[in-house]
Amino acid sequence: MCGIIGYVGERQADHVLINGLKKLEYRGYDSSGVGIISSRTGKLVVRKIHGKIQNLEELLKKSPLDKGTIGISHTRWATHGAPNRVNSHPHADCSKKFLVVHNGIIENYQILKDQLKKRGHKFRSDTDTEVIAHMIEECYHGDFLTAFRKVISQLEGAFALGIITQMHPETLYAARVGSPLIIGVGKNENYIASDVPAILDMTDRIIYLKDGQMAAITKDKVDVFTFKGKRMRPKVDKINYSVDAVQKQGFAHFMLKEIHEQPKVFEQMIKTRIKGKKIILEGIGLTEKQIKGIDRIFIVACGTAYHAGLIGKYVIEAMTGIPVNIDVSSEFRYRDPIIDRKTLIIPISQSGETADTLAAVKEARDKGAKVISICNVVGSSLVRVSDGVLYTHAGPEIGVASTKAYVAQLGMLYLLALKLSAYHMRISSRERQKILGDFKKVPFLYRSILKTKHSVLNIAKKNSHFGCFLYLGRNVNYPSALEGALKLKEISYIPAEGYAAGEMKHGPIALIDEYRAVVCISPQSEIYEKMISNMQEIRARKGKIIAIATKGDMSIKKHANFIIYVPVIQEILSPLLVALPLQLLAYYISVQLGCDVDQPRNLAKSVTVE
Ligand code: G6P
Repeated sequence: MCGIIGYVGERQADHVLINGLKKLEYRGYDSSGVGIISSRTGKLVVRKIHGKIQNLEELLKKSPLDKGTIGISHTRWATHGAPNRVNSHPHADCSKKFLVVHNGIIENYQILKDQLKKRGHKFRSDTDTEVIAHMIEECYHGDFLTAFRKVISQLEGAFALGIITQMHPETLYAARVGSPLIIGVGKNENYIASDVPAILDMTDRIIYLKDGQMAAITKDKVDVFTFKGKRMRPKVDKINYSVDAVQKQGFAHFMLKEIHEQPKVFEQMIKTRIKGKKIILEGIGLTEKQIKGIDRIFIVACGTAYHAGLIGKYVIEAMTGIPVNIDVSSEFRYRDPIIDRKTLIIPISQSGETADTLAAVKEARDKGAKVISICNVVGSSLVRVSDGVLYTHAGPEIGVASTKAYVAQLGMLYLLALKLSAYHMRISSRERQKILGDFKKVPFLYRSILKTKHSVLNIAKKNSHFGCFLYLGRNVNYPSALEGALKLKEISYIPAEGYAAGEMKHGPIALIDEYRAVVCISPQSEIYEKMISNMQEIRARKGKIIAIATKGDMSIKKHANFIIYVPVIQEILSPLLVALPLQLLAYYISVQLGCDVDQPRNLAKSVTVE
């Protein structure tokens, strides 16, 4: 959620840090701060401010920091304490000798804080983070790592930490429990960061700090230890995507760029995962015997990934006959679900760091289930706790509203369903080949949809004044309706509800009048006529209809006020196509309303706290 970057080297630290922070802003953006050790005085100097990184940049122009070649910085998404200057990181102890940035939550901070206060510590902020600085102050007697270990052993929760101290002005300290943290290895300089994009234009050599590890980093050395003090030999990985992947490349927003990347994401998936008639699911980690033995599947996910999972349920059940349950991760983890060794758990997560999804997986593993995750981020926490992984390889997704990762998750679910259907046959091999054949057309069809984006822009212009949107879909496109509504509310703040169209009469119909817009997802399908009936009911109540329909469907003109056409495709694959106009509609409405598309208020890209 929050973003961390730290630097030790020969350059002016705050310049490097601000550059990195800007790339991490998508993680959290209510306040930010930077702290360095002044080369002139040897003391810690800090600047913090409410709002976006731009505010911090302006503050540093007005009030520049001393020269200093080691520092830490942070962009915050508030958990404990309001988003303001005082609560923004870094946080210091009473003596102002130790400076801490933190991502995650210290669950027992209140007890620790009360104890520290009793012992005379003075707190400035309402954060959980500040306790760490004061605890280090108490435990430090000349050896930082010993003090650090002692402090960590008392902390409960998930956290990634970056620390500098004027007692050891050449060393940057880091530790990780749960929340992600990487070390960037450079030449005469090293970094820590919560995410790769922060440092990608400075180095492509990364050490993924593992859970339960800490590091002492100087400009030319990285020492990694377990919390018990055992020295580890860290593995340096090379990142295989370029700086371009984390830049807008001429698009107005990351979201628009990522929408346009979808044909390529699909092309890549087809190229690497389909060889002739065969589906290659490298990484799945299951033997043929285990695949045959699966008698139930559980999908767990949050947000957009959950909607992908819902479509996955329809698709897997239709093709394989294996019963699929799906839960949002935060429900799954607390409701004692029925799972055994024959159950396959499929967590879906773009980031692989979503706290609730990780906890759900732990719950499932404890009950003996196999875990095959669908994930976008290589080496993420989710991947580390899974038996197998199906990477979506959509490239870094920066826009908070998920687009390309969503269609990549869908793509992977289709391929998985097709693969399983060879062992659990509910469709004939001819049908399987037909689905696969149409699946391969998706990149081409995506390009044709993107060519008509201006018609979506026009529809957005004419409808952005509506104060409420309803999204309706049926069958495999019921989850598309949920996802369309989520996209709109995330980035435009317009209340939007997704519903199974058949449920309209059981509540949502009460909302409909001339002030509401209703998006009806109505591609050609076996239940097309049912959608038309819903549309008539909406028209009768003066609701405005934006229909998403199949190219060539002229009869829908009688029923809808606006129509967005998608190419012809068989019904089971249609969620792949309708996703794009839904994304574009939300995007253009958000732009019309002047909202911050890539960094919508209150949201974070990766939710690493419960
Ligand atoms: C946040 C993001 C969503 C995302 C969800 C799950 O809410 O804003 O876009 O769908 O987390 O994230 P994950 O990384 O697990 O897919």
